[in-house]
Amino acid sequence: MGKIIGICNQKGGVGKTTSAINLSTYVAAKGYKTLLVDSDPQANATSGLGLDKKAQTKNVYDLLMGLASVEEVKVQGPLENLFILPSNVALTGAEIELVDTEQREFKMKQVLSAARDQFDFIFIDCPPSIGLLTLNCLVAADKVLIPLQCEYYSLEGISQLMETIALVKSGLNRQLETAGIVLTMADFRTKLTSDVISEVRGFFKEKVFETVIPRSIRISEAPGFGKPLLLYDETSLGAQKYESLAEEFLKREVGEAGSVAKIPHEIVLIESPEDEIQLAEESNVLQANDLEEEKTFNNTTVDQ
Ligand SMILES: Nc1ncnc2c1ncn2[C@@H]1O[C@H](COP(=O)(O)OP(=O)(O)O)[C@@H](O)[C@H]1O
Ligand SMILES: [Mg+2]
Repeated sequence: MGKIIGICNQKGGVGKTTSAINLSTYVAAKGYKTLLVDSDPQANATSGLGLDKKAQTKNVYDLLMGLASVEEVKVQGPLENLFILPSNVALTGAEIELVDTEQREFKMKQVLSAARDQFDFIFIDCPPSIGLLTLNCLVAADKVLIPLQCEYYSLEGISQLMETIALVKSGLNRQLETAGIVLTMADFRTKLTSDVISEVRGFFKEKVFETVIPRSIRISEAPGFGKPLLLYDETSLGAQKYESLAEEFLKREVGEAGSVAKIPHEIVLIESPEDEIQLAEESNVLQANDLEEEKTFNNTTVDQ
């Protein structure tokens, strides 16, 4: 039976979607059948994986409202083992419409319980709030993975989330565990980053993943091309870091890191030649920036 991992933080812009996309991609690339559930009406995970978030296809809203099954909503992702339950803006309605329904916190759990047997891992990309959608994810999840941006007050920011998790654990989902905290957007040139890292590690100890995700141009560019880092620029520092995060995650969850199979490069999104040319041009411009970034990272990194 597959494990359900909610990727949560009520703060926006901390790297939830980026982590959801790239963690699920690498886990899939290492041979695990993976489902990514986009549970945010902004649908960034959907578009970040190259799907049209404005398309009138069935989506997570239909699922939660009982209008469609996982089979009807599920779409093939860019790798053989990766599937997506896409979102679109209609999901905003679910937050309101669910309020008056019975068992309103259990909708996602009910929906995913039927799909659980088909997957090794189900990741849920949560919206940036603690509303009914996030609550549904926390109730459905076996574990919650928390991306934390390396910035001031990051610890204060998650105290509210920790209280919500404790509340859910005390009633709606007693099995809920923490899969770990991942530090994101680290800028190793600043003292702030190393201060935040040691503060967070001091507080959450081994719950914090060893891998720290650096702030990187490549990471921020990839969603614009509708690609995970593995397919956008496999050799970039950001890609390497998300791969090691996936390995650490798998070590914790299944006891082994696994290696990327050759399959992922065979099944990729279909691109027009224009896309390829544009991609190549962008790559040249970006390469210089990322080399610079990498140099700084290697010189100043404290814990990698
Ligand atoms: N490590 C990183 N380096 C640079 N940009 C990043 C990084 N992680 C995320 N971003 C960018 O920051 C923005 C917010 O990230 P996102 O993953 O969408 O956060 P959330 O889902 O928590 O709102 C996005 O534009 C994303 O591309
Ligand atoms: Mg997001």
